[in-house]
Amino acid sequence: MIERNPGQTFALTTPLYYVNDVPHIGSAYTTIVADVIARWKRLEGNSVLFITGTDEHGQKIERTATARGLQPQEHCDRIVTAYFDLWEKLNIRFDRFSRTTSPRHRAIVNEFFERVWRAGDIYLDRQQGWYCVACEEFKEKRELLDDGCCPIHTNLKAEWRDEENYFFRLSKYQSRLEELYRQNPEFIQPESRRNEVIGFVDRGLQDFSISRVNVAWGFPVPDDPAHTIYVWFDALLGYVTALLEPDEEPTLENALARWWPINLHLIGKDILRFHAIYWPAMLMSAGLSLPDRVFGHGFLTKDGRKMGKSTGNTLDPFDLVARYGQSAVRYYFVKEIEFGQDGDFNETRFVNILNADLANDLGNLLNRTLGMVKKYCQNTPPRLTGEDVPPENTLKVIGVELAKTVTREYNSLHFNRVCEEIFALIRAGNKFIDDSAPWSLFKQKQQAEVELVLYSVLESIRLSAYLLSPIIPTLSGKIYQQLGFSIDFDDPVSVDRAAPLDEHGRWGLPTNQQLGIPEPIFSKLELPLNDS
Ligand code: MSP
Repeated sequence: MIERNPGQTFALTTPLYYVNDVPHIGSAYTTIVADVIARWKRLEGNSVLFITGTDEHGQKIERTATARGLQPQEHCDRIVTAYFDLWEKLNIRFDRFSRTTSPRHRAIVNEFFERVWRAGDIYLDRQQGWYCVACEEFKEKRELLDDGCCPIHTNLKAEWRDEENYFFRLSKYQSRLEELYRQNPEFIQPESRRNEVIGFVDRGLQDFSISRVNVAWGFPVPDDPAHTIYVWFDALLGYVTALLEPDEEPTLENALARWWPINLHLIGKDILRFHAIYWPAMLMSAGLSLPDRVFGHGFLTKDGRKMGKSTGNTLDPFDLVARYGQSAVRYYFVKEIEFGQDGDFNETRFVNILNADLANDLGNLLNRTLGMVKKYCQNTPPRLTGEDVPPENTLKVIGVELAKTVTREYNSLHFNRVCEEIFALIRAGNKFIDDSAPWSLFKQKQQAEVELVLYSVLESIRLSAYLLSPIIPTLSGKIYQQLGFSIDFDDPVSVDRAAPLDEHGRWGLPTNQQLGIPEPIFSKLELPLNDS
């Protein structure tokens, strides 16, 4: 049985991206994956809140705006439109977009700050150390490279700071954090990141500064406006502000009423410490419950090399989507990278994978099968259901188990395995046609056999399209349409009403008698001519 979860809520977040520049492929990657999860959870029948947004304060943004001759807010307002634009191009269906410069966010930050203050966890002290403005983080001397840059931003030297700051008493939460990791092994994933965090905490936690005196671009510290609140303290709370209904009064109580605690924070591995150590400690201090899970994914490289403007090795998501389309981009990153591990982009591999999987295996299978229905069945799909197919039919054997397996893999965030499992059915469909040769059966006048073969294949394509819909919703919609169903996979209400998982996740539905117009769902991609 495939279970649905009506009435259950699921809230998930991407990081709130810095607006120092237009979105890069790393932000696109996390957001695509978050969108896949959100769509999957909706398919399961959950009420889902998918949160993304932008992190707009701090020295990095302030300096970028100045360099461009803009007021910081004006700069943020310009860059943020590029995020909206890219998410639309990538067919991302977020529910909330949290901007940390919004007035309602300020109210939430103030209230939270005051709670932590009342808990006795904020004090004034002197901060000395090396600061990487690009990370917006103090670094230990031993973490820096020989030239004084941090390993992530190798073209920017860390700067020496010596100033009075407010500190958060992180050290007080050492044992409670240790207990959290022990009792909730799922809290940080994957396992390797969990070990990394535990190792870091084992070395002993130090309090960290949560205010700045030399940065104007931030919220003032309540009762001490000479300081602004440290960008990370402010940014993490953007997740809470996002939970408010659009017209609701911005109070913590309102924000936490429906969706808290958040079920899943998706982040890149470089910002693990903030999410897996600082954030839970801040929440403990404010007396709030903790998120269920923080998942730190890996980094993308291009052609095996680190990406970066300084090296010229970049991959522009706008360009990629313009050249190859959103389905291709979504599919490649989800299928090709083991979520949690580092992954590589290579254009030749990209084109080959898409042509092999989407154009050939899936697209051609649909096309040739519909062609045979036209030729051998007067364009009327066989009036059969799964019950009519013998239990040893290879496609039925795989098909009846598929939704269960795929559910497990989606929920464990093993998206590459989701694709492998579904494509195993699709490939079996191609082989099944070749092996059973409906054209010969037709010549031998074995019409019932022809119909069994074509039904089994059409049903396998339908099920595959359905289970792939969180990843390639547009293509799944096209396939469904050609099979005679009008389901808009971009509209969760329509899916829930007309194609719920417990029904459409089963192999063996009766075919639709009215087929749509057959046309290729995915045109073969071509590599650009090498002009170098
Ligand atoms: N503003 C903070 C997050 C605050 S969350 C409350 C931030 N923003 S960011 O824009 O710099 O980074 C956003 C995400 O992009 C991070 O999860 C980071 O890990 C990810 N990536 C940056 N470069 C990346 C790759 N090359 N590959 C994959 N993800 C990468 O950090």
